[in-house]
Amino acid sequence: MIIRNADIFGKVSDILISGELIIQIAAAGALSGRLAGEHEMDAGGRTVLPGLIDPHVHLRCPGMEMKEDWATGARAALAGGVTTVIDMPNTKPATETASALDLKRAAASKTDAAGYPLGRLFWVGCSPDTLGELPGLLGEMDVAGVKLFFSESSGNNSSSDRAFVKAVFGAAADAGKPAAVHTELAELLELSAGVGLPELAMHGLRRPQSAAEAGTALVLELAAETGCIAYLCHMSTAAEFEMVRSHKARYGAESVIAELSPHHLLLNENHQVIGGPQSWAKVNPPLRTAGDNCAALRALLDGTVDLIGSDHAPHLLSEKDGRNAGGFHGCPSGFPGLETELGAVAGFLKEQSAEWRDLVSMLTNHNPARIFGLEDRCGIAEGKRADLVILDGPKIVDSGNFKTKAAYSPFNGMELQVSVYKTILRGKIIEQ
Ligand code: DOR
Ligand code: ZN
Ligand code: ZN
Repeated sequence: MIIRNADIFGKVSDILISGELIIQIAAAGALSGRLAGEHEMDAGGRTVLPGLIDPHVHLRCPGMEMKEDWATGARAALAGGVTTVIDMPNTKPATETASALDLKRAAASKTDAAGYPLGRLFWVGCSPDTLGELPGLLGEMDVAGVKLFFSESSGNNSSSDRAFVKAVFGAAADAGKPAAVHTELAELLELSAGVGLPELAMHGLRRPQSAAEAGTALVLELAAETGCIAYLCHMSTAAEFEMVRSHKARYGAESVIAELSPHHLLLNENHQVIGGPQSWAKVNPPLRTAGDNCAALRALLDGTVDLIGSDHAPHLLSEKDGRNAGGFHGCPSGFPGLETELGAVAGFLKEQSAEWRDLVSMLTNHNPARIFGLEDRCGIAEGKRADLVILDGPKIVDSGNFKTKAAYSPFNGMELQVSVYKTILRGKIIEQ
């Protein structure tokens, strides 16, 4: 196949693909002689980026297929330009044992059967009962690392017991794989605070910044003690970014991995959801303040943030609309993110920086590829896997048309300045 007139970081080029691989990149028009009988597609001068590697998704299987499965999750990923995902362990059963990992692999193979062989790795979980399984799990090729929750969020096991966390970090250090943490500390949550405040502000008080920050401080301390590479999930507060900035200054840029989710960059507690209730924007950690959004942008521009994770966390629309589930309080936290992350982040950065394409590809492809050993799909170059996304112009988010089963979004109705024109997965154009 050939993709003509694709703008690769400012150079309009033709990309020749054979099987799953990019085999040649040349100036536009230079490959015209080679083409008899080949498929071709004209990108019309549009920007092409390497396919996104999303290190933080909840595809819910096994056990919660009603919320998402790997066929719908993969279609959502590809609609959003995401060609590799790393799935979270809070499924049923939790991915904490060899047999549970096998169940997850079987669930994930549904994406191949559906004709969308999405790239994937898995985070494994761990609890005090399953600690003995961890070294074996971390030795598996398709395991990205271990993920801990310091508090309950969506049916996950949680613990922030110091000796337990230290043992988990030690096992991660031995395996040379990251230990990821959702850092909000259970004992610092104030689950009945903020009565009478607007809903998102109230949720923010109930799961206060201090809970995330104290957990982040604990992670950084234990990472330094054990020598493990800590991975901070969805950082959300100005103080957390500052902590990571100083940790990196002291221990090196690669001593800790900082993840940012698009909603913590772009949305805050004053957000008004369009076309749905405020509960569509309920998430843990909560949307914070406008000041935290600014701190997130600064951290993203100065390299404190390493990568973008969507935290794609689908729930049933009936749970999220607050009618069946006891309103805002009763509904679960989380929303789908695969279909909006590229548009949200690239669209926003395009307005901030002339270097937006390099920045986006650093945060969504180069850094995750380096961190998780996915060099085969890092960047756009000869010999790399042909996982690509071709960008288009502004588009209004319509969550009613999502490919995910979770047809709602806090970004619904918002115009994002970048959208996805086509995604190419392993050399095949995905028709949606
Ligand atoms: O809002 C969230 N939803 N935060 C989490 O940490 C878990 C996630 C989920 O799995 O639904
Ligand atoms: Zn989380
Ligand atoms: Zn998550």
